[in-house]
Amino acid sequence: MDRAITQNPFGLWGLTGGEGCSVIKAVLILQHLLNQMIYIKHLFAAHLISGVLDYKTLLDARALPVDYARGQLAGHPMCMEQYYRLFTSYRLPGPQRDTLVAQESSVMPEPEHIIVACKNQFFVLDVVINFRRLNERDLLTQLERIVKMANSEDECLPPIGLLTTDGRTEWAESRAVLMRESTNRDSLDMIERCMCLVCLDDASGPEISDSTRAMLMLHGGGPSKNGGNRWYDKPMQFIIGADGCCGVVCEHSPFEGIVLVQCTEHLLKYMIGSPSKLVRAASVSELPAPRRLRWKCTPEIHKLLSASTDKLQRLVKNLDMNVYKFYKYGKEFIKKQKMSPDAYIQVALQLAYYRCHGRPVSTYESASTRRFREGRVDNIRSATPQALAFVVAMTDGKLSSSEKMELLQGAIAAQTKYTILAITGMAIDNHLLGLRETAHELKLETPQIFTDEAYILSNQFILSTSQVPTTVEMFCCYGPVVPNGYGACYNPQSDHIIFCISSFYDSPQTCSANFSKAVEQALVDMRDLCDICKPTCNTSEQRPGMIHSKSKIFLCQLDKSFRNLTRTEEELKKN
Ligand code: COA
Repeated sequence: MDRAITQNPFGLWGLTGGEGCSVIKAVLILQHLLNQMIYIKHLFAAHLISGVLDYKTLLDARALPVDYARGQLAGHPMCMEQYYRLFTSYRLPGPQRDTLVAQESSVMPEPEHIIVACKNQFFVLDVVINFRRLNERDLLTQLERIVKMANSEDECLPPIGLLTTDGRTEWAESRAVLMRESTNRDSLDMIERCMCLVCLDDASGPEISDSTRAMLMLHGGGPSKNGGNRWYDKPMQFIIGADGCCGVVCEHSPFEGIVLVQCTEHLLKYMIGSPSKLVRAASVSELPAPRRLRWKCTPEIHKLLSASTDKLQRLVKNLDMNVYKFYKYGKEFIKKQKMSPDAYIQVALQLAYYRCHGRPVSTYESASTRRFREGRVDNIRSATPQALAFVVAMTDGKLSSSEKMELLQGAIAAQTKYTILAITGMAIDNHLLGLRETAHELKLETPQIFTDEAYILSNQFILSTSQVPTTVEMFCCYGPVVPNGYGACYNPQSDHIIFCISSFYDSPQTCSANFSKAVEQALVDMRDLCDICKPTCNTSEQRPGMIHSKSKIFLCQLDKSFRNLTRTEEELKKN
């Protein structure tokens, strides 16, 4: 019998090997392995929560080191305000508009608890008891108690989290109905004031690819799986899957993806740097038991739940997510061409779209404006005339390679110029939005420009793109912003690029797999063009000391920390 638990750095685990033993033996061993996997999952959750508490200490002391810009106009200090909203905000649904509730307001006192979602039930995990933050061992004890409570079927309550998956107006109306009962008001209050959610998901199917992982994080596999194990108003939800798939789902309004990535990387570094103590949870704990949140559900609530469930089911079925890793080259090759990697990838996306659809479309690329106080993002409109000239030339094939190369350089220069304008506050979208909203607030007649067809069309972002780079092997994804569009999030690494392409199946105009293939072809053709025009360029050579080598170190360290984890678990068994 040769079975072993294999682990990968992000707490992913799976079963390998194993043949030629009796069924009973297999079941027993499997049960042992399952118990061990469940234990490791809880241990991972306790370690992660411990990291969140450590990070929160830094945030509370306003002691985070200031970020400095990289890439274009590098070295400028960045505004840090977004970080302070990570664990202190809540997006409250309203019938007309939502409100971003911040903990600084007198409405919300300091949150000192986390909500743990398990089997679509919600539990309050107090992380400060008697003025002391719980240590990892205490957290593990409490998590194991929560899982036990969640498994008790007698007390199972309806999956109220599903209501938060609905349209914002529908959810606001359902919330108003929930609020009629004091039990529900108390439960909502606990969720709205919590630091974050930790969602302990059930296993959701055998197929684990990056695309399915991405979808499991986003929607939990729908109502029949872990869809109700979420609360989408809360900005930070850490997901820990039974099959080892881990991630974070964020409500975007308080902060941008870059801040989320920085926080997540900090947590991973914490987990590597302070390996789990790996003590068994205390069998009898003096800590007060975690509390299950109660819901009083009237027939009206059940009806609303059933409507939200149906809509989520349709949304889940409709989401066409394709995570595609392009391994032929990465940003080091592009830098060697003396081109901005981000601009180059944007031009490749333009080429891919043009080849699939024969026309350019309004494109959004987020550009950070954190060089300014309270800055968020503005929009780089990547569908430039220069990009169009290049993609037409690449598609109709009439021009020579050197002419195409000239057009490529023109497209990259235009994109880079727009990027610099956007990150220095000179783009047009925020400005126009400000004017439109000012007119609205002053109750003026809507200025004509905002009802013009060209303006409306230019704001239908069929390509919604964003660079979210990481130094650890992970990726970020999101959905399209219009029914016939693509979401295209990319993560350039030194020798590869990760793309997360999303669209909706019910649009006859889109197909994420086809678009991914077109992106690959665009990148290959652009490399070939660069190689033809610069035949001496050595593409295989890597510059030393780049992020790639750094990320390998991270992976090794994580791997080591998880190997230590199993070893100590075995040692524990021996003792
Ligand atoms: N020749 C050689 N190297 C070049 C180059 C050139 N012509 N132009 C740029 N580079 C290098 C840069 O120095 C940088 O090097 P580094 O990897 O050592 O830091 C690297 O290429 C990347 O630069 P570039 O590709 O030009 O892009 P950028 O890092 O400046 O990113 C944006 C551009 C718009 C993505 C960035 O400014 C930004 O705003 N990011 C935030 C996006 C965001 O908010 N996303 C989340 C939304 S939820």
